[in-house]
Amino acid sequence: MSAPQAGITPTGRASARPDDAVTPLINDHREAKDLFKQYEAAKGDNRKKQAIYRKIAAELRIHMRIEEEIFYPASRKFVGDEGMVNEAEVEHASAKDLMDQLDGLEPSDPYFDAKVTVLSEMIDHHVEEEETEYFPECRRSTMDLKAIGEQMKTRKAELKAAH
Ligand SMILES: [Fe+2]
Ligand SMILES: [Fe+2]
Repeated sequence: MSAPQAGITPTGRASARPDDAVTPLINDHREAKDLFKQYEAAKGDNRKKQAIYRKIAAELRIHMRIEEEIFYPASRKFVGDEGMVNEAEVEHASAKDLMDQLDGLEPSDPYFDAKVTVLSEMIDHHVEEEETEYFPECRRSTMDLKAIGEQMKTRKAELKAAH
């Protein structure tokens, strides 16, 4: 029987315990989920909805950028199926396309809520794949997740400062 693996739950989901590159990504996912819930609760209050949506878009864009610039390229060679990485990139592109559409709409627009809901569902699906397939596979590999984590931390601070 193999020993339990640090940072992977018995169900195979990546957990937020060890100090590595995966943990801050999981924390971002939780924050995004929380913001989508706040958006749901703000129904009818257009000013509040706009403010929460802007926060969601800003956070997601930074998160996707550090994954695309650092985590995805660094992990590509360590995962069995590069198609999984390509799929993740395509999902990011779809989410960004939807955010570009939302950026040009007022929250009073009849399609604003629909687009935020679809964005939330897309992100849910994407996060599920990252946390149950992609990230656990990275943690099982010989990838230097600590070094990658440091790079991502620096880049995130730069992107936040520029925002
Ligand atoms: Fe992610
Ligand atoms: Fe992602």
